[in-house]
Amino acid sequence: AAIKKYQFDIQVKNVSRLCHAKPIVTVNGTFPGPTIYVREGDRVMVNVTNYAQYNMSIHWHGLKQYRNGWADGPAYITQCPIQTGSSYTYDFNVTGQRGTVWWHAHILWLRATVYGAIVIMPKQGTPYPFPQPNMEVPILLGEWWNTDVEEIEKQGTEMGLPPNMSDAHTINGKPGPLFPCSEKHTFAMEIESGKTYLLRIINAALNDELFFGIAGHNMTVVEVDAVYTKPFTTQTILIAPGQTTNVLVLANQVPGRYFMATRAFMDVPLAVDNKTATAILQYKGIPNTVLPSFPQLPASNDTEFALGYNRKLRSLNTPQFPANVPLKVDRNLFYTVGFGKDSCPTCVNGTRLLASLNNISFVMPQIGLLQAHYFNISGVFKTNFPDKPPTPFNYTGAPLTASLGTVHGTRLSKIEFNSTVELVLQDTNLLTVESHPFHLHGYNFFVVGTGIGNFDPAKDPAKYNLVDPVERNTVGVPTGGWTAIRFRADNPGVWFMHCHLELHTGWGLKTAFVVEEGPGSDQSILPPPKDLPPC
Ligand code: C2O
Repeated sequence: AAIKKYQFDIQVKNVSRLCHAKPIVTVNGTFPGPTIYVREGDRVMVNVTNYAQYNMSIHWHGLKQYRNGWADGPAYITQCPIQTGSSYTYDFNVTGQRGTVWWHAHILWLRATVYGAIVIMPKQGTPYPFPQPNMEVPILLGEWWNTDVEEIEKQGTEMGLPPNMSDAHTINGKPGPLFPCSEKHTFAMEIESGKTYLLRIINAALNDELFFGIAGHNMTVVEVDAVYTKPFTTQTILIAPGQTTNVLVLANQVPGRYFMATRAFMDVPLAVDNKTATAILQYKGIPNTVLPSFPQLPASNDTEFALGYNRKLRSLNTPQFPANVPLKVDRNLFYTVGFGKDSCPTCVNGTRLLASLNNISFVMPQIGLLQAHYFNISGVFKTNFPDKPPTPFNYTGAPLTASLGTVHGTRLSKIEFNSTVELVLQDTNLLTVESHPFHLHGYNFFVVGTGIGNFDPAKDPAKYNLVDPVERNTVGVPTGGWTAIRFRADNPGVWFMHCHLELHTGWGLKTAFVVEEGPGSDQSILPPPKDLPPC
C-alpha cells in the first residue's frame, strides 16, 4: 500500500459557459476538479487550503471512512468548515473498496462547481471481473447556472421562492455544442474501432436525476457506487445525484461521430426539456465536420423505464465478491419523506417549503455533531429520532394535512454497534414529483426491496431480494413509493443521511445516525486529528 498525497487549493476563478462569465469556486482552478487515483489499500492525504471567501469542507462520497468520521467532511456533521486562510488534511485509508466514487464540497451549494472523480483501482495483480478495457475515462455529469449559485440557494431557503432551475447540464464541466457560445465547451473523446472503453460515470448534478445514452452504442453496466454488479446491456442508464455507474462501451459501430447526451428524469416542469448536455465520441480519423448522431433517450416522465432499469441492478455475488446481506434484522426503522409549508418572516409570501423525515425537519447545528458526540458536549443534538412516524396514515393517498405538523430539531437515531438495521423510506407524494436519492455516509447498504404505494409490513418483506440485491451508498425512493435498505452498523461515529437533491437537503430532508462504539480496541472512533478545524 502506498501513501497518495494531494494538494487542493480552494480558489475562485472566472469561468464562462453559455455566453455568461462568472466567478466560481474551484479546486486548483479547474472545473471539474482533479481526479484522485488510488489503489485499494492505499492511504490518502489531501491537504485542503482555503483561499476563497467561502467556508469549505470536502466529502469523499462513497468512501466508508471506517472509525474515521473526521475525514468524512459534511460541514457541521463531522467537522466545522475550513475557514478562509486555513488548511485541513483529510487523512484516510481506502480499504475493502474499489471502483468509482467521487469528492465534492459539502457545505451550502458549493458542490455545484467543487467536485471531482475518485478512481480506486483494484489491488495490484487483481483483474476486474469483466473484460479489461483498453482505456478508462471519468464522465462527470453536472449542472450549470448562468447566475450565482449561492444566490439561487438563498431564493429557496431564505426567500421561499422556487429557486431557478439550472440553465444546462454539463459533461465534464461542458454543456456541448447545442448551447450558444458552447462549441469550444464540448467534451470529446477519441476512440478506435474494436477497442473497449470503461466510462466511470458520476452524477454530480445538484438537483437532476439523469438519463444518459450514447448514439448507436450499447453500454454494459458492470458496477454502481463502487460495487460490482451482474453485467447487463442497455441503451440508457439512469443515474441520480450522488450515484456512480461504470459501463463498458465497445467501439463497434460505423466509424463516425456520436453524441453522448443527458436528459433530466422527472424534473419540474416536465414539459420543458432544454438542458440536455452533449459530448462527442469520435472514431479515430473521422473529421470534425461530420455531424454527430443523437441517442434515443426515454421521455422525462418515463417511470416505467426507471423501475425496469433499477430492477436489473444486482450485486455480482460471486465467491470473490459475495453479497453479505443481513438476513436477520435487529432494528426496524420506518421513515416517511414529507413536504409541507413553514412560516418564514424573511420570505416573500411569509412561507416557504420545508421537508422532513418522520415529520422532523432537520436543523443544522453550530458545531460538528461528531465532536459533540466524541467529547460529550451536551445540548447540541438529541438522540430521540422516532423509529416510525408519530401517526401512521395513508402515505400515498394524498393526505395533505398529515405531514404538516412538522417540527424542527437536530434529532438523531442511536444505533447499537454491529446491529443489523432495516430502514424503509416511504415517500408521501404530496408536493414534489422527483424520486428522492437518499445517501448514507459511512456505509454501503443493500437495497432489498422497493415498490409503489404504501409499504405493507405484512406482505412486502416476503418479496425482498436477500440473495443478490444491489449494494450502494445512494438509492432512489420512488415518487409515491418506498425503498427498503439493510446494513450492518459496524462503523462507529456520526453518519449523515440525506436526500442528495440539494434543494431538498436545504429544506431539511436529512438526519444522522449515531452508531455506538464496540467493545474491542479496534471498534472505537479514532482520535481526532490535530488540525481538525475549530468552530
Ligand atoms: Cu455526496 Cu452527504 O453527500
